[in-house]
Amino acid sequence: MKGRVICAVIAALLPGIGSLGAVPSAEARVSLEKCTLCHGKPEFRKILVDGKIRDLFVTADTLKGSVHEKKTCVDCHFDISEIPHRERPRRIACTHCHYKGNAEGAPQSDAYLAYFDSVHGKAIAKGNSKAPLCQDCHGNHNILKAKNPEAAVARTKVAETCGRCHIEIYAQYKTSIHGVALGKGIVEAPSCTGCHGEHKIYGHEDPKSTVYATHVADQCSKCHASVSVMGKFGIETEQVATYKESFHGVASQFGSRTVANCASCHGTHDIRPAEDPLSSVNPKNVPKTCGKCHPGANPNFAVGKMHIDAKKKEAGIVYYVASFFKYLTIGTMLALIAHIFLDMYGRTRRLRGEK
Ligand code: HEC
Ligand code: HEC
Ligand code: HEC
Ligand code: HEC
Ligand code: HEC
Ligand code: HEC
Ligand code: HEC
Ligand code: HEC
Ligand code: HEC
Repeated sequence: MKGRVICAVIAALLPGIGSLGAVPSAEARVSLEKCTLCHGKPEFRKILVDGKIRDLFVTADTLKGSVHEKKTCVDCHFDISEIPHRERPRRIACTHCHYKGNAEGAPQSDAYLAYFDSVHGKAIAKGNSKAPLCQDCHGNHNILKAKNPEAAVARTKVAETCGRCHIEIYAQYKTSIHGVALGKGIVEAPSCTGCHGEHKIYGHEDPKSTVYATHVADQCSKCHASVSVMGKFGIETEQVATYKESFHGVASQFGSRTVANCASCHGTHDIRPAEDPLSSVNPKNVPKTCGKCHPGANPNFAVGKMHIDAKKKEAGIVYYVASFFKYLTIGTMLALIAHIFLDMYGRTRRLRGEK
């Protein structure tokens, strides 16, 4: 452990405490006071080599109001048996209590255990210490229920929590239509977890991921196909249906990952309304957006609206063109049938020798 401890009390206290490791197991439960002797001093902190300060001030009050307020220090820090700690205590394993059938009364479901199969859990297992453990999303001593708006995993807070590590994505997201909406307290807008899930987060190239290319439309549709959600914001819901009927949508449903999904055109973390000049679907930017996959796409390639329901009059020219062809087809069919009947009539008359 590198770093300088600003706490002169330690040296003075040491003889009085001795090595707790030697205490018989019945008394091995170290009492709160034993920890707060040092950690209960407000100025107890450590200056790390990089100049950052690690606050080591923790008391029973720190846990007050949290879901774990009835727990004692060593319920979680169960590996701390030596004082002073010979090495930096290991990080807490929440699954020490949070496992199915635990006697602690800690809530558990398979949903949380899915974390171990997620991109984060697998990265930790491979030794990537930058990936999150449970506490990196939930907090250390201040863990609150998700319903509590102050919780690190609360609907309106969780993006900031993910953003501590995914810094650039968070910066993009915050200025996107969804991030701005959530910032205003609109809970219908997706936070990171609204598209990625909470514990079942997978890499975007993993077919299990909610944001795997062929699953994206389903994710967006959760909200964008719902009239009751979109009605509140005056946004139409037909985009989903028109996409699914489009060339891209049909190919995607057949498993193509190269055709456009909603995010290929709208962006992922930087989605903005079409009238915003920074939007990838702003008329000015559409040729460039299509051009990512259709090299040489010029403004003519992308003319007209993308999400068009040719069955509606609002579709403008497309409606009339579609209608024109519909009636042209019907007209042609009728003419053809009439022609066949007239022809048959003529032949029978000729066969009967009538003139
Ligand atoms: C004699 C004073 C003393 C007592 C008593 C004490 N600690 Fe510590 N603790 C320290 C010091 C000093 C450090 C910093 C060690 C370092 O990193 O150099 C520390 C570090 C820690 C850390 C790790 C902080 C980090 O770097 O992330 C934890 C966790 C911790 N103590 C928990 C406890 C618990 C739980 C108890 C009670 C069982 C306890 N301590 C009792 C002095 C004490
Ligand atoms: C619900 C479990 C839990 C309980 C109860 C708990 N801690 Fe912690 N503590 C943590 C977690 C999680 C961390 C973050 C480091 C890690 O991941 O292990 C932590 C970190 C610390 C640190 C390092 C500084 C910091 O704030 O990150 C100290 C010191 C500490 N705990 C002392 C205590 C003391 C003293 C008590 C009793 C008053 C206590 N803890 C009770 C879970 C707990
Ligand atoms: C010493 C056992 C223990 C440890 C270790 C522990 N918990 Fe808990 N946890 C509990 C108990 C018991 C409850 C239920 C508290 C209650 O309902 O009063 C709980 C409740 C919770 C809740 C609230 C869940 C709900 O549905 O109400 C969350 C979230 C939580 N713990 C997360 C964590 C995280 C994250 C860690 C690791 C940092 C952790 N716990 C470590 C025992 C533990
Ligand atoms: C990548 C971040 C992340 C990680 C890692 C994570 N969680 Fe969660 N967890 C969340 C989010 C976000 C929610 C809130 C879900 C919601 O809104 O209902 C949640 C919800 C929970 C709940 C229910 C809380 C409540 O009040 O309903 C528990 C319990 C829980 N997680 C335990 C764990 C445990 C145990 C681990 C580690 C094995 C873990 N989580 C790892 C993000 C995470
Ligand atoms: C509207 C849905 C949506 C929201 C909200 C969202 N994402 Fe994404 N995210 C996606 C999609 C779709 C992809 C896949 C993009 C691709 O295939 O190139 C993705 C990819 C990712 C990736 C991997 C690709 C990369 O660029 O590194 C990370 C990491 C990520 N998101 C994190 C986050 C975080 C953190 C947040 C919250 C700040 C967030 N996402 C919010 C839809 C979303
Ligand atoms: C403690 C830092 C940390 C936190 C907090 C965190 N992540 Fe991550 N995340 C990582 C790291 C590191 C990786 C890379 C893992 C690997 O592939 O080795 C990752 C990977 C991902 C990926 C997969 C990237 C890809 O290649 O497609 C997604 C998606 C993701 N995180 C989303 C989230 C979301 C959503 C949250 C919040 C609920 C979150 N993360 C919270 C560190 C974090
Ligand atoms: C959890 C629900 C939810 C999900 C998932 C979601 N959105 Fe949204 N989206 C919203 C809400 C709510 C608004 C309106 C916000 C506002 O107007 O303040 C919105 C607004 C938009 C807008 C701006 C529309 C306008 O006319 O202002 C676009 C474009 C958009 N979303 C595209 C997407 C795409 C693409 C995806 C998938 C990658 C997606 N959304 C996923 C809820 C969602
Ligand atoms: C993510 C890549 C991607 C993006 C972005 C994209 N497309 Fe496509 N699109 C494809 C692929 C792949 C095909 C399959 C046929 C092909 O290879 O040309 C296709 C086919 C089409 C077709 C039908 C077949 C044809 O070649 O006539 C049209 C029309 C089309 N795209 C228009 C657009 C327009 C307009 C945009 C921009 C608003 C756009 N696309 C954006 C990948 C994309
Ligand atoms: C090939 C590119 C492309 C694909 C794929 C695509 N869109 Fe769009 N979208 C656009 C363009 C361009 C606009 C701009 C207005 C217009 O032309 O209709 C738009 C408009 C929108 C709007 C209205 C935004 C506004 O500000 O008026 C929403 C909402 C929307 N799309 C959602 C979706 C959803 C959800 C999906 C997937 C199911 C999707 N889009 C797939 C190109 C695309």
